[in-house]
Order: sequence, then C-alpha cells, then structure tokens
Amino acid sequence: MFDKTEKKDISTAPRLCIAPMMDWTDRHCRYLHRLLSRNALLYTEMVTAPALVRGGAVHLLDFNPEEHPVALQLGGSDPDELAQAAKLGGAAGYDQIDLNCGCPSDRVQSGTFGAVLMKRPELVADCVAAMQEATAVEVTVKCRIGVDDQEPREVLPAFIDKMRGAGCRRIAIHARKAWLQGLSPKENREIPPLDYAIVHEMKAAFPDLHVSLNGGVESLGTVEKLLDEGLDGVMVGRAAYHQPWDILAEADARIWGEERETPSPEEIARAMLPYIERHLSDGGKLHQVTRHMLGLFAGRPGARGWRRVLSERATRDGAGPEVVEAALERIEVAA
Ligand SMILES: Cc1cc2nc3c(=O)[nH]c(=O)nc-3n(C[C@H](O)[C@H](O)[C@H](O)COP(=O)(O)O)c2cc1C
Repeated sequence: MFDKTEKKDISTAPRLCIAPMMDWTDRHCRYLHRLLSRNALLYTEMVTAPALVRGGAVHLLDFNPEEHPVALQLGGSDPDELAQAAKLGGAAGYDQIDLNCGCPSDRVQSGTFGAVLMKRPELVADCVAAMQEATAVEVTVKCRIGVDDQEPREVLPAFIDKMRGAGCRRIAIHARKAWLQGLSPKENREIPPLDYAIVHEMKAAFPDLHVSLNGGVESLGTVEKLLDEGLDGVMVGRAAYHQPWDILAEADARIWGEERETPSPEEIARAMLPYIERHLSDGGKLHQVTRHMLGLFAGRPGARGWRRVLSERATRDGAGPEVVEAALERIEVAA
C-alpha cells in the first residue's frame, strides 16, 4: 500500500502543470495523467473552503496515493476558513495548496471566490498569509491578468507584489482577463484575448518568484518554447484533457530529461485496467473512469471508434473492463 503522505520532491514538478478543472480533473482523470507523466504537477478540481470547513465534506479531499505530486485547489475568501481548509489539505497529504483567483462563474462570484478576488488584493494577501501560517505545505495562487475594466499592467504587478509580501512564491497566471458580467465561464476562457507578453513581463519584474503561464497552450512544443523563453512553468488545461497523450506522454523525457520509453496510448489504456477493476470492486461505475479516457487516441486511426464504444457502452449496467477491450479492438482494426 502507498502512504498518502509519502511525497515526492516537487520542486521541478511545476515546470508542467495540469490545470484545475471542475468536473474534469477528478481523481480518476489524475490517475490517467499520472500514468502518462511521472513528473507533471496535477491539480485537483477547485474545492471550496466552506464545503470543507462548514459542510464537513472532507471526502472531497480523497485522492489516490499514486497521484503525487498533486496540488489541492481551494476556493474561498475568508482567511480563517481558508486557513482551516489549507490545514485539512496539508494533513490529507497534498503537495501544494493553491488559491483560486481566476474562476469567473456566477456561483463562485456570489461567494466572493475566484476572479473577483483580483479586485481585492489586500484580502487575498490576508488569505494567503493565513493559509501559509496554517500548513507547512506551500501555498500558491492562480490568477487572471485582471478583471473587467482593470488595466492589467497596473493591477497585476500590484497584485503579485501583495502575494509576495504575504509569503507566496509561486503564481500561475491565466493570461487573459475575466469579464465578470455578460460572459459565461466558457466564454471567459475563449473571448478575452490572451496576453502572453504580460506574463513574461511579470517574470522579469519578479525574478525571485516562480511564474507559470496558463491559457491556450495546445502542444508540448509550446510548453518547451515558453520554458526556453524563461518562464518557470506552464499550466495546460483543456488540451491536456482532450489530448492527454499528446501533452503528457513525452513530457518526462522532453521537459525533465528523463530516460523513459514513451508509453503508447494502448499501453496506457491497458495500464488503466487494474485501476478500473479496483474502482468497480469498490462499487464505482465504469464510465466515471473511462469518460476521462475518450481523448487518449485523439488524432489517431480508430479514435472515433474508440470514443464511440466507450461512450455508448460504459454507462450500461454492469459494464466492465471488457468495454475497454472492445474499444481497443477499434484501434487495432483501424491500424
Ligand atoms: C471544464 C473546466 C473547468 C475549470 N475549472 C476550474 C477550476 O476549478 N479552477 C480554476 O482555477 N480554473 C478552472 N478552469 C480554468 C482552467 O484551469 C484554465 O485556467 C483555463 O482552461 C485556461 O487554460 P487552457 O487554455 O490550457 O485550458 C476550468 C476550465 C475548464 C475547461
């Protein structure tokens, strides 16, 4: 058995992170991503501090020991509550605790979480300081470059300076504004234009901080390019979810210089089978795991058949590993 508190050295892990994504980066998704890369830092979905502290929903902190290094992302804006949540996260064995200052959804705005916090740097600094005081685990911040009519080149350096003053050493910047009114969360990930230059400017202005860029990165080649240009890390969200093999399978060799034979998507699919068996014997459903595997063969012959077999059959009562085997046959037939 693994010990959840048995952590890896994560100092180089944030060179490539997989972004926190609600409903997507759950423990099953992270298990898949970990099979693809041993090194990338994986983020949880956002867990709100009120859910943990007031709601007692500590099951939201469950993760598989194999997932290390893994960062817990918290949402909230009450320093005491966030401190308690950070303490719980640290005790649960997470390698890093991140505060969400980038999520624009209405539900989240109403609780003063997420991107709206870009307007409250003093409060965020209090939150970060309280969280860091409560746990030995490193506290980080994920933010936007600004919200609404804020001028990013004024507010972002001031925001980061406040975070640094509160003891934060790592920042991930989603390189676009969030517009808090009138855009859906999805539109807020697509419509406000990306500004990579400002992230480079922040790295130049805060050379002592670990600065990661997030937003619109669609290939491992772009990750390498951004690292070569001097950024400390790159965070990839949607592309890693939709094409996990393309983003992660060669990352250990290309980003961390490890001598590792790149696993094929077939090998990864088969390596998921024992995990799936375990999940089913614990009372779980097949599609809870396989829904994250739909993109494993993206862009390859047979990908459509693979997706179709998994989508149609994994939700059926009693569906088991034979569905994955049947989906793999679609790949073999197409090869
Ligand atoms: C389905 C979905 C859910 C998301 N949930 C969160 C979240 O819980 N916390 C957060 O900070 N960002 C969240 N995001 C934003 C991503 O972390 C990331 O910042 C954004 O997708 C931009 O990166 P990308 O262009 O590489 O996808 C979410 C994005 C998606 C697509």
